Amino acid sequence: MTSTRLEITRPDDWHLHLRDGDALASVVGHTAERFARAIVMPNLKPPVATVAQAEAYRQRILDCLPAGSAFQPLMTLYLTEDTAPEEIARAKASDSVFAVKYYPAGATTNSQSGVRELSRVHAVLEAMEKHALPLLLHGEVTDPAVDIFDREQIFIERHLLPLQARFPGLRMVLEHITTKHAVDFVTSAPANVAATITAHHLLLNRNALFEGGIRPHNYCAPILKRETHRQALLEAATSGDPHFFLGTDSAPHARETKETSCGCAGLYTAHAGIELYAEAFEQVGRLDRLEAFASFHGPDFYRLPRNQDRIMLERTPWTVPATIPLAGSTCVPMRAGDAVAWSLVR
Ligand code: NCD
Ligand code: ZN
Repeated sequence: MTSTRLEITRPDDWHLHLRDGDALASVVGHTAERFARAIVMPNLKPPVATVAQAEAYRQRILDCLPAGSAFQPLMTLYLTEDTAPEEIARAKASDSVFAVKYYPAGATTNSQSGVRELSRVHAVLEAMEKHALPLLLHGEVTDPAVDIFDREQIFIERHLLPLQARFPGLRMVLEHITTKHAVDFVTSAPANVAATITAHHLLLNRNALFEGGIRPHNYCAPILKRETHRQALLEAATSGDPHFFLGTDSAPHARETKETSCGCAGLYTAHAGIELYAEAFEQVGRLDRLEAFASFHGPDFYRLPRNQDRIMLERTPWTVPATIPLAGSTCVPMRAGDAVAWSLVR
């Protein structure tokens, strides 16, 4: 008996952390094997804040690719309170930078250089609106008085609605959404607003943080939410609505920096970057909608051509290794030691 196969247009990853140096060399192959392109996050130390820095980083990524790979990194700038509006014009004129990333200062890994006060970047946002350069939002407030599970909802109310009112033409992607509130906001938004959804937020709810004990490898930003929110994300991802597309947010951290008294946020999923989404779509009987979510809605939003070549997935389980190498250390990938239901054939 032959296993079920699924052939789709080669997907892209619209939210990815590749890191730098030896860590970059350790992980980039996983993404390049599956995805044609990826929007590469700029949260290095120091951040990738200028077009010149983005182009140098892009070259370091290309230098690490396996021989013959056609993978294209799509670069982003890290928005700081010192970003000059002229940098936006330079980014638009470049053929390497495709978006600008907003991190609220203190919200997540390497966000110290992020924005404290949105009003301080209004001139930059005006330039982005004018040049149609998308703003990618880490949509969480950092106010310690706000419950960690409510930080996305409160960000939408306090910051996103006013931002949208002030810059109605600004192209925005609410990244790695985790709540029904975000789904509802994006579903009813105009076409210049979109959202990415990770595989881990489609497959896990917050119980995964405490299964028999604390599970640091399931800790990420924004934190996993309750089951009703996971259901809303699954519904949105599999709805066929072009507002929603694939962004893994695969974020490698060395094992010892997660298994510690104050562990880093981030799940590594690039090793099964499309296979995990296939599992999620299969759960709700909508594998037929995977291609649009993974391969069409993203390029359509970014006004880039859809990919021409195809990949083949097969419903043959495989066991994820306990660890993968990461720059002289190791990283514990999602599903470490357990099965993923779908395999990449080619
Ligand atoms: C990301 C990282 O490690 O860079 N971590 C995460 O939990 N998602 C940063 C981010 O996207 O928030
Ligand atoms: Zn991220």
